[in-house]
Amino acid sequence: MSTTTGTRSAIQPPTAAELDPEERMSREEIQALQLERLQWTVRHAYANVPLYTRKFDEAGVHPDDIRSLADIARLPFTTKADLRETYPFGMFAVPMADVARIHASSGTTGRPTVVGYTRGDLERWGSLVARSLRASGIRPGMKVHNAYGYGLFTGGLGAHAGIEALGATVIPMSGGQTARQIQLIQDFEPDAILCTPSYLLTIADAMVAQGVDPRSTSLRVAVLGAEPWTNEMRRELEQRLGIEALDIYGLSEVMGPGVGNECVETKDGPHLWEDHFLPEVIDGDTGAVLPDGELGELVFTSLTKEAFPVIRYRTRDLTRLLPGTARPGMRRMEKITGRNDDMIILRGVNLFPTQIEELVLGIEHLTPHFILELTKEGRMDALTVRIERHPDLSAEVCESAAQVLAQRIKIFVGSTVAVRLEEPGSLPRSEGKYKRVYDLR
Ligand code: DLL
Repeated sequence: MSTTTGTRSAIQPPTAAELDPEERMSREEIQALQLERLQWTVRHAYANVPLYTRKFDEAGVHPDDIRSLADIARLPFTTKADLRETYPFGMFAVPMADVARIHASSGTTGRPTVVGYTRGDLERWGSLVARSLRASGIRPGMKVHNAYGYGLFTGGLGAHAGIEALGATVIPMSGGQTARQIQLIQDFEPDAILCTPSYLLTIADAMVAQGVDPRSTSLRVAVLGAEPWTNEMRRELEQRLGIEALDIYGLSEVMGPGVGNECVETKDGPHLWEDHFLPEVIDGDTGAVLPDGELGELVFTSLTKEAFPVIRYRTRDLTRLLPGTARPGMRRMEKITGRNDDMIILRGVNLFPTQIEELVLGIEHLTPHFILELTKEGRMDALTVRIERHPDLSAEVCESAAQVLAQRIKIFVGSTVAVRLEEPGSLPRSEGKYKRVYDLR
C-alpha cells in the first residue's frame, strides 16, 4: 500500500478463510439472522427491564408484534435520559450475580452512563474487536501497543480483550505518559498502535520534539477512534507516521469499541457488524426512519447482548448508512462528521469542528493544532479559531495562511470567524478524547 515505508512488508487484508462465517454471509442471510436475534432481544428486554416493559406498554407494542425487521419502527426509542433515570443498574436485564464487568462513560454533564456485561457479552465483545483489528490488517503474532485509556472507559479494556482474542501480543500501555509511550514504541517495536487520532498526533509531535523520525518506527497500522476525525486527518497521520490509519467505531451504551470498523482493502468508512447490531438512521427532529444513503442520527438495537440490551438507542452521532463493500452482507456508515451535541450554531449557521479540521489540514502552512473558542460580543456569538503557527515558517507566511483559513471558513461553512495564531506548543495536547471546543459564553 502506498503509505507504508520501503523495508516493512505491506499490510494485507485478511483472506476469506480468516474471516468469521458471519462476515461471509449474504445480505439475505444476515437479515434472517438479525430478525431471529431481534425477536430474542425484544422479548428479553421486555421481560427483564422495567423501563422497557413500561415504554413498550405505553407505545401499545408487544414483542409478538415484531414479525419483520421493518417492525422495529414500532418500538420506542431509548435515550441517554432513560439511562440517567435508571442510574446506576436499572437497565440491567440479568441478575447482578451474572454481571461480570461494569463500565461507565464520564459524560460531560450529570451522572455517568453505566453499562454491564455477562461473561458471554465479554466474549462476544472480544471477538468483535478481534474482527475489527483483523479487518484493519492486524494478524495473530503481531505486537499491538494499546494506548486507549484503561479503566471505566471501554476503550482500553475493550481493545485489550480484542487483541488477545485475535491471538496478537498486547502491550497494555493505556493513555498518557507520552515520553514513555515513545520509548516503548522504540524498544518493543510494535506493528500496530491503538489510540485516539488526536493522541496519535500528540505522539507524532512529541517524537519530532525528541528528535525521533515518526516514519522510522516499527509501526505499520493504527486503529483510531473514540472521537470524530476526517479523511484529511487520516492522510496527515498516514504520511507523518508511514502507516495505514483505520477507523474503529463504538460507544459504551451499545458495547464499546468494535461496533464497526473499516476494512483495510477499501478504507471507505466503518462496516457495521450487523450480525450483532441493527443500525437505523433517523431524522433527529421527527424520529422518522430515513432510507439508506440519507444523513441523520444513528440508532442501534443490540441483537445478542444479555446484560445490557439496547432497543433503538439514539447515539446522537450523525452519519448515513451505505451498502457494504469489502463485506457485502453488512452495511457501512460514512465516517462520522460529528455529534448532535458538538454542533455549533453560530449566528444561525450550523458548524461542526470536523469541518474546520478538514479546512485547516488543506492549507499547507498551518499546523493541525487548533481549538475553537465561542464567546459573546455584545449580543452576537463569536467564534475564534486559535491555531498554533508553524515553528519553521516566518510570521508573514503564517499570518497569510491564517487569513486563507478565515476566507475558506467563510466560503465553505458560511460563517465569519476570527483566526488567531498562537505560539508553537502553547495549546493543550490530546491525551485521549480531545476537547476541541471551549464555550466561554
Ligand atoms: O469512545 C468507545 C471507543 C473506544 C470507540 C475506542 C473506539 C475506540 P464512549 O466513550 O461511550 O465510547 O464514546 C462514544 O464517541 O457516540 C461517538 O460520538 C464517538 N466515537 C467513537 N468512535 C468514533 C469514531 C467510545 N470512530 C462516542 N468516529 C460515540 C467518530 C466516534 N466518533
